[in-house]
Amino acid sequence: MFKKSTKVTYSVCRFDELTSLQQQLIDKAKEQVQNAYAPYSGFYVGAALELENGEIITANNQENSAYPSGLCAERVAVFYANAQYPDIPVKTLAIAAFTNGEFLKMPVTPCGACRQVLLETELRYETNITILLYGSQEIYVISCVKDLLPLSFDKLQLQK
Ligand code: THU
Repeated sequence: MFKKSTKVTYSVCRFDELTSLQQQLIDKAKEQVQNAYAPYSGFYVGAALELENGEIITANNQENSAYPSGLCAERVAVFYANAQYPDIPVKTLAIAAFTNGEFLKMPVTPCGACRQVLLETELRYETNITILLYGSQEIYVISCVKDLLPLSFDKLQLQK
């Protein structure tokens, strides 16, 4: 028996260290928490993504009284983008979360199902998606979804 390990590399940044486009995406993700429908969790998540054609798409989490029927902000954003612009890769995605009257201090990190969906989009267009995770104290910049989901299941494993 032997051990293997995997490493996640990401940058920890202040807002003023980001590019102006990255700052814009974070601002839009923060704005979007206002439109979230999260009466059950009180956890309001906003997302903003930039497509390769420069289009910016925003979204938020949508909950439901039948809890599993709701959807996270990231998936609302990426499914909308893929539905409306099926030929355009997603370049960057920013997310922010607001609860108990404030934005999370530490960056909000996507759930496993969102990571899987984001990975599909990354592989589909063969273009890395930069992920910006907002926290009021620090911001994480992750260069691709693959880094967020080590040992992932993907389409290569379905090949016969
Ligand atoms: N949620 C998101 O929208 N994105 C995340 O990254 C984490 C969780 C939503 C799902 C649910 O509406 C609420 O936050 C609490 O889990």
